[in-house]
Amino acid sequence: MSNFIVFKNKIKKFNKAITVSGDKSISIRWVLFSSLAKGVSSAKNLLLSEDVVAAINIIKKLGIKTKLKNNQCRIFGNGIDGYKYRKNIVIDAKNSGTLGRLILGLLINTPFPIKLIGDKSLSKRDFKRVSDPLSKFGAKFKLNNKKYLPLKIWGSPNLKPINFFENKGSAQCKSSVIFGSMRTNGTTFIKAKKSRNHTELLYKFLGLPIKIKNKRTYDEIKVSKINLIKPLNYTIPADLSSSAFFIVLTALSKNSELVIKNVNINPTRIGIIKILKKMGIIIRNKNKRIYKGEVIADLKIKSSKSIKSINCPVKLNSSAIDEFLIIFLVAAKAKGISYFKNLSELNQKESPRLKWGEYILKEMGVKTITTKDSIKIYGNPNLKIDKKIIIKNYLKDH
Ligand code: S3P
Repeated sequence: MSNFIVFKNKIKKFNKAITVSGDKSISIRWVLFSSLAKGVSSAKNLLLSEDVVAAINIIKKLGIKTKLKNNQCRIFGNGIDGYKYRKNIVIDAKNSGTLGRLILGLLINTPFPIKLIGDKSLSKRDFKRVSDPLSKFGAKFKLNNKKYLPLKIWGSPNLKPINFFENKGSAQCKSSVIFGSMRTNGTTFIKAKKSRNHTELLYKFLGLPIKIKNKRTYDEIKVSKINLIKPLNYTIPADLSSSAFFIVLTALSKNSELVIKNVNINPTRIGIIKILKKMGIIIRNKNKRIYKGEVIADLKIKSSKSIKSINCPVKLNSSAIDEFLIIFLVAAKAKGISYFKNLSELNQKESPRLKWGEYILKEMGVKTITTKDSIKIYGNPNLKIDKKIIIKNYLKDH
């Protein structure tokens, strides 16, 4: 029974300050950048989730020494060409799309084939979206059923820069190509639909060759070969995705207030805050500051007496992509019908999230109309749940 969490009683009103664990996107990127730095990098508050531990295990397989104690980690990088490529290396990205897709960008120069595997959920996800552009650099791939893991990558000593149009709003695809460009002579051009920009911010902070022009819906990015990455000491800020559950808990509770400390509120991640504010929920930033290019703040959330429905602007989709399920719960308690559209990427995640959203809301007695890429949620401010609902985590998803 240990896999079950049972909520029986209503939560009493609260007024508290909490911290949540470190940002997953930045934790994985810190591991990967540090693995190619020259010298010792250290991180505090590293997220110790399975995904990040998988990242550490992969770089160890590639010959990089690491030391992990609680959530502090040191990585002893040997420079940009410091991976020890050997015959028959198998690396395991476990459940992590970010890790699986980003690491491939760094491996396009491997002289021996490397096999990438993942868990059941990751093995159902599209890897062609990164193998296609990485092939243009000159690497070769063999994918399971032309699209999936396990895959094999063969690197090339003659890599060429590429032009890449990223039109899904996927930071994983964008970052994988940025990483690929590190290993090629010449300049790679990326036109990318807006998505989280932690890779670009780390490039800038580390003084690596990147030029970015921000257009209204796209970014134009120019990147070129890297010779040296300096060690990177980083205190990982709290993850807005983990905070999302407590934000929504507070919003839907009565007479409560919550402060969540040191949260990463990078503008490319705050879709949930913008959406909830439009729905009438009070969220304020305190102690806003810049840390290594990222924006950090304490978030103060108040319970809401009345929640408005929303016709969610499509331009917020990418910046709320990991938070939609929890946002749907707010829509379930809103006055009126909420509409979320152009969400085909939601079913490309660790689990088919749009399908799950529909299923969970239905179990709660909430009417929805769902298509393959949209959901209408008929909100009910007086929604009461009077039966036991079991949500099986049949595919792992954060
Ligand atoms: C991530 C990008 C997003 C997100 C994932 C983390 C990242 O995926 O869903 O949890 O760290 O780059 P996509 O880039 O595929 O949308």
